[in-house]
Amino acid sequence: MPDIYTDIIIKGGVVAFPTETVYGLGASAWNPEAIRKIFETKGRPTDNPLIVHVASPEMVSDFAAEIPDEATALMEAYWPGPLTLIFKKKKEVLDIITAGLDTVAVRMPKHPIALAFIRQTGPLVAPSANTSGKPSPTKPEHVTEDFGEDFPIIRGGACQVGIESTVLDVSEKPFEIYRPGFINRLDIEKIIHQEIHPYRPHKKTDKPKSPGMKYTHYSPDAEVHWLGDDEKPEENNTLYLYHHLPDDLNASKHIVDYHGDFEQMTRELYDRFRQADKDNIHSIAIQQFIEISDNELLIALNNRITKAIGKK
Ligand code: TXA
Ligand code: MG
Repeated sequence: MPDIYTDIIIKGGVVAFPTETVYGLGASAWNPEAIRKIFETKGRPTDNPLIVHVASPEMVSDFAAEIPDEATALMEAYWPGPLTLIFKKKKEVLDIITAGLDTVAVRMPKHPIALAFIRQTGPLVAPSANTSGKPSPTKPEHVTEDFGEDFPIIRGGACQVGIESTVLDVSEKPFEIYRPGFINRLDIEKIIHQEIHPYRPHKKTDKPKSPGMKYTHYSPDAEVHWLGDDEKPEENNTLYLYHHLPDDLNASKHIVDYHGDFEQMTRELYDRFRQADKDNIHSIAIQQFIEISDNELLIALNNRITKAIGKK
């Protein structure tokens, strides 16, 4: 790990770095001025709290006032990995991180570069390294698109998961999923031997428990819609994403067939969104999922696509 990036953080700057989910925009969790730069760089509303990234479960005790036994079991099972836990916060945790809430979100990312970096810098707060409103970055070039060629970024290839971490509130029982992700409800229940609240999409009028979920995210400039029953792919200005391409159609540059590989579809979703905008594609049609409840990953994928559709 080149020291220049560690130096930037120690001197109160921000650096983009890879995680297994999406690229993060990191600043020291103990430096309010540095954290303010994150909000400025992204154009992020300050009522949207940030996730603290740690390099070991032990580091959680600097932030969490209480760590329930079930949370310890989840950390043992899934950390490092794409699971963010929300704890009651210690009073030392900066208000700018939590947007004034009495809870704090913490996760230990799985990418070796992220872990090595955090070991050198100490805990980092890091939202996704995109301009607010754009799809989260899953490749270093996505960060450069949003923040410019000269922006400090540690390059670590394409992200393995491709959507943001699952956010689970463990500060109250029953635990509740605020943001669905790669680690799903069944993965969690299997470890804690208790039922949790599944993710409930919030109505616009609800006061969201997780402030970030009220914002439209993940949206390309292209219009995104579910493929209509009798919509036929016409290869003009539309990108078609199929999880199962009907037999009478052939895949092409504009017609993508994932052959039922939903993990790959998840990994590529934001890159497809961004690439469509670069290619001047006007709309993106996505084949609807059938029986979402049978496949937990589809709940997360469906959530991100629905949010991109909801923007228009
Ligand atoms: O995978 C990820 O989680 C990525 C990578 C970089 O680690 N980070 C990420 O951060 O997606 P961000 O800031 O884009 O999303 C954080 C989410 C938001 O929806 C926010 O509202 C929620 O976590 N959150 C953070 N602290 C919270 C808290 N104390 N209570 C409820 N929700 C919280
Ligand atoms: Mg984000």
